[in-house]
Amino acid sequence: MDELAKRLRSARAILVLTGAGMSAESGLPTFRGDDGYWRNHRVEDLASPQGFARDPLTVWRWYNERIQRCRGAEPNAGHYALAQLEAMITNMTLATQNVDSLHARAGSKNVLELHGHLREAGCTGCNATLPLANGLDENLIDHSCGGRFRPQVVWFGEALPRDVWARAEHAAAQADVILLVGTSAQVYPAAALALQNDRAFIAEINPGATGLSERCDCVIREGAAVALHAMMKALRQKE
Ligand code: OAD
Repeated sequence: MDELAKRLRSARAILVLTGAGMSAESGLPTFRGDDGYWRNHRVEDLASPQGFARDPLTVWRWYNERIQRCRGAEPNAGHYALAQLEAMITNMTLATQNVDSLHARAGSKNVLELHGHLREAGCTGCNATLPLANGLDENLIDHSCGGRFRPQVVWFGEALPRDVWARAEHAAAQADVILLVGTSAQVYPAAALALQNDRAFIAEINPGATGLSERCDCVIREGAAVALHAMMKALRQKE
């Protein structure tokens, strides 16, 4: 932790990449953990354009349930710690694979939502959008233009939003420190952000090993809330 704090203090640019484990302590399930979504559901049914084309109702029921869970969840100490880090450091980019908006709710400003968000639905046939505060009413899935409303998230087989990805790649290339929090680092291209520059100090906060653990200069085997809180404490102590 002291080494990480030292690196953060001297860094000119920092990239943080977060995944579902970031929000585990807010009570939101991960995808690949013991109770993770992909243990009981097929990715191709719920998170692919083909699954949505086959059965939009089932897909929307799953997203509506997730929207309700997000609404009931609060940012945890880890989300707040990252918002404080951003306020303390000039050039920090927070790239998240999460669609739960908890980073923004904790006060983070410079957030790149690599996999989209659940704040609104967008029509597949035109530019219409609908707010998703309470999920989408099942009667509203089919739009009058002939298209369908879908969640504004990235599904398997789809490209990441071009502008968001370009900014994330730029931040990764610039970073002196890349901090991975709560991601299994199994989903690309997001995980590839850590491999963009061989000069950066790479640190991982995760109770378990990930696809990138072996590439890391420092691993902290703790949950995000405890570890990020401790990281901020270490950072402040040595100021
Ligand atoms: P995963 O479910 O693959 O991984 C969650 C990670 O969080 C694991 O490495 C856990 O060890 C770790 N973890 C669990 N509890 C934690 C805690 N309290 N603090 C910190 N870490 C903890 O989730 P992602 O890596 O986010 O994509 O998955 C990436 C993408 O795969 C998701 O964005 C989603 C999914 O399919 C799409 O839906 C497109």
